Amino acid sequence: MLCTRSLIILFVSSGVLCDGESLLSSWNPCGHRYDPDCLLNSTAKFLENTANGSLLTPCGRDDPDCLQKSTAKFLENTANGLPAYDIRRIDPLSIPSLDYDLDNGLILHYKNLTVKGLKDQELSQFRIDINEKGVKFQTKANLTAEGEIVIEINKTGRSFSGPFSIKGIALGTMRYGYGISTDDKGVQHFVVGPETISCQAVGEPDVQLNSELKKAIAEGTEVNKGEDYKTKCLEMRQKILCSIVDEAYVSVVHNIRASAKILPKEAFLTGV
Ligand SMILES: *[C@@H]1O[C@H](CO)[C@@H](O)[C@H](O)[C@H]1NC(C)=O
Ligand SMILES: *[C@@H]1O[C@H](CO)[C@@H](O)[C@H](O)[C@H]1NC(C)=O
Ligand SMILES: *[C@@H]1O[C@H](CO)[C@@H](O)[C@H](O)[C@H]1NC(C)=O
Ligand SMILES: *[C@@H]1O[C@H](CO)[C@@H](O)[C@H](O)[C@H]1NC(C)=O
Ligand SMILES: *[C@@H]1O[C@H](CO)[C@@H](O)[C@H](O)[C@H]1NC(C)=O
Repeated sequence: MLCTRSLIILFVSSGVLCDGESLLSSWNPCGHRYDPDCLLNSTAKFLENTANGSLLTPCGRDDPDCLQKSTAKFLENTANGLPAYDIRRIDPLSIPSLDYDLDNGLILHYKNLTVKGLKDQELSQFRIDINEKGVKFQTKANLTAEGEIVIEINKTGRSFSGPFSIKGIALGTMRYGYGISTDDKGVQHFVVGPETISCQAVGEPDVQLNSELKKAIAEGTEVNKGEDYKTKCLEMRQKILCSIVDEAYVSVVHNIRASAKILPKEAFLTGV
């Protein structure tokens, strides 16, 4: 069984009692953040609630309205992270570093990215194939990301760095196989297999770079030249957005996998 005391220690010792705050306070707002009695009480309720599966709403697999609402509820309840359950904070999501080859002569090195908007992602498609035991889960997210970027020009090895920000909308698609396991209490859980993530940008993302970084792009690529420069530029912006989305959705799937370990399979879907 999950240990109440260790949950409290985790919250307090990490100094972010309120990683799970929105969840705790929605049941029993602790007037005093560190009031141990109140916290213990909320924590006990949290455990009970979690065990009852109320991080989300159970849905039939062919009930898009229910799945839409349940996804929103799950994100609302988990986006701040629940360290005791290995559920990561995804809004804001911090990406300390990420490298990406744009495949047009430039290699991007993002540093200290802060991504916002994942908690408001909307379900756009959910399919479960119970014969093949596979899930396709697609959401639409309106995201912003900001941080630092180093743009490396492959052919010369020169690098330029500066602040970076992007705003854009993307469809993120997560595909994974699943199994079903039975725990020592006889409760069945989904086991989420390795995922593949794909991304499709919607419209033209807005990318902000300083003049140094724009110089790197001009120097390292042919993007600004030729009649099709608008198309090449659009493609580059979309790839930049998707490089971040691909990384961010790893944490989204991670949270689904972590929740499947603690919640019974019926908390997610009925009739599977
Ligand atoms: C714990 O919660 C119950 C019911 O919500 C409430 O009556 C009680 O006063 C709470 N105890 C503390 C110490 O907050
Ligand atoms: C959880 O379920 C049990 C039994 O079904 C019920 O007694 C309890 O009130 C529920 N707890 C919450 C917080 O919903
Ligand atoms: C990362 O960015 C945040 C603000 O977005 C800033 O407060 C923090 O100091 C940065 N950390 C590093 C290591 O640059
Ligand atoms: C995306 O989010 C921003 C705020 O972060 C908002 O101003 C904008 O209208 C949103 N766009 C869409 C299409 O929802
Ligand atoms: C850099 O360019 C060389 C050829 O000019 C190529 O072989 C290599 O794969 C490129 N590296 C990256 C990371 O794109």
